Amino acid sequence: MTLISLLKRPYIYILSLVSSFAIAQSATIPITTNDHALVLKTDQQGRLRTVYFGEPLHSSSEYEAISSLYHFDDANDGIYNAAYTPSGTWSLTEPAIEVKHADGNSALELKYLSHSQKPQSDASIETRILLKDPLYDFNVTLVYKAWEAENVIEQWTEIQHKENGAVMLEKYASADLYFTGDNFYLTSYHGRWAKEMQCKEEKLENGRKIIDSKLGTRAMLLQSPNFILSFDQPASENEGKVILGQLAWSGNFKLDFEVDTYDNLKFLAGINPYSSTYALPANQVFKTPSLIYAISNHGTGEASRGLHRWARNYRVLDGQGERLTLLNNWEATYFDFDEDKITGLFKDAKELGIDMFLLDDGWFANKYPRNSDRSGLGDWQENVKKLPSGIGHLVKEATKEGIKFGIWIEPEMVNPKSELYEQHLDWVIRQPDRPEVYYRNQLVLDLSNPEVQDFVFGVVDKLFTENPQLAFIKWDCNAVIYNAYSAYLAEQELPQSQLYVDYVKGLYAVLERVRAKYPKVPIMLCSGGGGRGDYEALRYFTEFWPSDDTDPLERIFMQWDYSYFFPSVVTCNHVTDWGKQPIKFRVDVASMGKLGFDIVFSHLSEDEKAFCKQAVKNYDRFKEIIWHGDQYRLVNPHENDFSAVMYVNESKEKAVFFGYFISQRQRLITDKEPIKFNGLDPEKQYTVKEINLFPGKRSPLDSEKVYSGDFLMKAGYNPMINAGRTSVVLEIEER
Ligand code: GLA
Repeated sequence: MTLISLLKRPYIYILSLVSSFAIAQSATIPITTNDHALVLKTDQQGRLRTVYFGEPLHSSSEYEAISSLYHFDDANDGIYNAAYTPSGTWSLTEPAIEVKHADGNSALELKYLSHSQKPQSDASIETRILLKDPLYDFNVTLVYKAWEAENVIEQWTEIQHKENGAVMLEKYASADLYFTGDNFYLTSYHGRWAKEMQCKEEKLENGRKIIDSKLGTRAMLLQSPNFILSFDQPASENEGKVILGQLAWSGNFKLDFEVDTYDNLKFLAGINPYSSTYALPANQVFKTPSLIYAISNHGTGEASRGLHRWARNYRVLDGQGERLTLLNNWEATYFDFDEDKITGLFKDAKELGIDMFLLDDGWFANKYPRNSDRSGLGDWQENVKKLPSGIGHLVKEATKEGIKFGIWIEPEMVNPKSELYEQHLDWVIRQPDRPEVYYRNQLVLDLSNPEVQDFVFGVVDKLFTENPQLAFIKWDCNAVIYNAYSAYLAEQELPQSQLYVDYVKGLYAVLERVRAKYPKVPIMLCSGGGGRGDYEALRYFTEFWPSDDTDPLERIFMQWDYSYFFPSVVTCNHVTDWGKQPIKFRVDVASMGKLGFDIVFSHLSEDEKAFCKQAVKNYDRFKEIIWHGDQYRLVNPHENDFSAVMYVNESKEKAVFFGYFISQRQRLITDKEPIKFNGLDPEKQYTVKEINLFPGKRSPLDSEKVYSGDFLMKAGYNPMINAGRTSVVLEIEER
């Protein structure tokens, strides 16, 4: 935050001074970004209410007057717009927090005590608001971080008490927001394995709409913690007020949208209270996960570019850094490989021109070899039959070929057919007296147990200690939690209902340790496809695997939908044999993110090989724009027979365009209309050159012609995408 921007916002000083010296009973608290203001204000009883969610006012002193414009104080129903609704006292609306005090009483009141607003080193302004129960020594701090330029807000709560014994937290939302307005449109995402991130938009009607997960691990598999909320009209790319948000938590979550009797929208987001009562001892802080959202008054395009910039600059591990292109052997070999087969693939990787070879599942376990997904998980020693010379040998051989080496692990899990299961049954999440229930023939280890945390950390640590040149890890997580029961929590006399939360906390504790020792080595967050991918996990991971479905036609939709929330630098896209599209189509689609291959390169024809090699070279030239440039979604595949996306670098000198023909039925549809580009400089002059051409194909496009950015954005450009040219990549450069 610069001095100038601080001076433009004098209230920041004033409020922090007030709060440092005096306990105020009333306050108006604007939490602002460049284009947005969330204003909280105390009422006459000292309860904090949300009074505004809209464009910032020129004069901050005027926020104070907003609440007088609304009359929500309804004697029958309580007050709707509490900034953090307690339960058991005056409010009969859906609470943000429910507790049982140490004395067994369940009533909670929260009143405003003080607040501060301070610029942070990560360019955000942090607002902390202390609310306290007048009767009990129990308080909640509402925390908001606002990034002005990106229009991103991150908010969570911190709960603490000094009661005589533990307080049972029965519900503890991260955010309780209130939006006034007439019409609200929600886009939510559901899915299943290989069909993740399927979007649906609906107009919210009176009553509650709940999006949640109870899967424990792999929590995003069926429903997603990502959402788009659009005000007054369905979400559109370049106009209208929208919020793109996510609950950043790798476990059970709950998003609760309620259109109330005033037709306004109350939105609660947090850990799913389902079976998750938490015993909070005195003087400890319970920090809820963050709700993160980007706001725009000009549609989802601007909102997601803000979110992408925020993610790259302030959140994702090494978000501004490089990524490795790779060749993976999963679909090329599955479990069936040996040393020669793998070292043979190194040669393919080298010829293809990529950075790294990634050895997938199947390399470990001896007593119960990992030759299928039925055995061996948990026994992380090289399988001596497949890899007699060990991982170290493979790393050396890869290095000789001039490529890096990475490896797959799934350290949170165990097959019942494994030595780990035989030796440490008490480490496994399972009901002691009930039949086990498996997901992909495996069970989940109990990460609430510090010994299990040590074990999981040890799996990673051993690999890096023994192989200092190991360049990459793919961290998988393929099972959900059935039969939730922890032998460790039982032994500690802690409630079993803490397991879902303590599991995730345990996971983050392990990841903290991994990153303390190995701060930057790239690690891919994989969860059998898009079962995990959230901004808390992405503090520790450099990228994630959105889906096992790599059919490029499906990917056009899936990558489009993920792109609302994640910058392309974090989404791993691999070229595989899924689908019926030609290799050019597959490579073009996978190039819109972090490019990888999972095919047997040597099985390709000479022309296909030549195409791939050239495409990798092209990717190396433009990847910086994909990874760190601004993304513009141009043609929505959900609404058209085409789809198009482009990426523009910061200086607007270079851009890359990807366009696809996706209609399965309308083979006669032609390229009759131009596509309007976006994000260019109207004053600059550009050439447009088609690249990624298959050997022997000539482009019908004139790469010499010069266009102004103004022309390309207003009149557009016709890339001639049609049934005969189903995938077109263009490089746009300033002249
Ligand atoms: C999961 C991953 C795949 C692969 C397999 C290995 O399904 O999503 O990419 O790694 O596990 O078992």
